Amino acid sequence: MNYLTLNSGTAMPSVGMGLMKLPDAPETESLIRDAIALGYRLFDTASSYKNEAELGRAIRSSGIPREEFFITSKIWNTAQRLGNAEGAFNRSLERLGLDYIDLYLIQWPVPGCYMETWHALEQFYLSGRARAIGVANFTVEDLTYLISEAEILPAVNQIEYHVLGGRSDLRVFCQSKGIAVQAGAPLAQGAFLDREILKAIADRHEKSVAQVGLRYLLQLGISVVPRSVHMNHLRENLDLFDFELTEEEMNTIEGLREGYRCFDIPSDLSGGILL
Ligand SMILES: NC(=O)c1ccc[n+]([C@@H]2O[C@H](COP(=O)([O-])OP(=O)(O)OC[C@H]3O[C@@H](n4cnc5c(N)ncnc54)[C@H](OP(=O)(O)O)[C@@H]3O)[C@@H](O)[C@H]2O)c1
Repeated sequence: MNYLTLNSGTAMPSVGMGLMKLPDAPETESLIRDAIALGYRLFDTASSYKNEAELGRAIRSSGIPREEFFITSKIWNTAQRLGNAEGAFNRSLERLGLDYIDLYLIQWPVPGCYMETWHALEQFYLSGRARAIGVANFTVEDLTYLISEAEILPAVNQIEYHVLGGRSDLRVFCQSKGIAVQAGAPLAQGAFLDREILKAIADRHEKSVAQVGLRYLLQLGISVVPRSVHMNHLRENLDLFDFELTEEEMNTIEGLREGYRCFDIPSDLSGGILL
């Protein structure tokens, strides 16, 4: 496994497992247990994914020391609006059955609320209950404002990024500020897996199209958290470190970018944020 060193000093695996839209417990718990056995240590959950408890149980039953895991969770919009970041954070810790979270993110930049939420996250970080704090779905404009008011720089911005889309100006902005970029939906929820041009590149490396799409992101310095319910896919998605895309292949892939988006923007935010 490769790691990215966050600006908090924490080492974050560059590949993890996304836990959004998974089946209900107990299948999720056993899926996570299987993923742990394959070697996954970074798990990306959120209170809104409703599987923090299953993740916590899978970690505890693995017999692997807690410190070997890197657990991300996120605060949802409602808690931000209610000014209840402390309550949301404590509830996540309780559901996970953990006494600290490795990375705690603001899931969406709720207008008029996210600065107050950020100040609460700063306290979680300073108390050691969050080893790193960050944001998701923040634009350059959101980050510029946040940085101007913040005491602590976000360690991560988790954004939509894949071979078909994602804002490269935002990626460059984050990386220039020392904010690690993590791709949510790194496989564009499957939207590019049938592209012939990617298949040709994949064949050259004896890899799958999904692996090429993930490797492209890693070579841009982006961490990835693909989701799968299939063991063969979970295995493939970890097996990204024994090949390298050439500069020409990276440029070919860059040429596929067409501004495609697959994230659902929460209905209570549409119109309120720029993406
Ligand atoms: N912060 C945010 O607002 C936000 C938003 C979206 C996502 N995320 C995070 O990013 C994670 C990943 O994004 P996502 O869940 O939207 O989708 P994704 O990872 O881009 O794509 C998942 C799809 O790809 C398929 N897949 C996975 N590995 C594959 C492989 N090796 N070969 C072929 N198909 C493969 C899966 O099907 P199978 O199950 O059949 O393999 C599934 O249909 C989420 O789970 C979440 O943790 C965060």
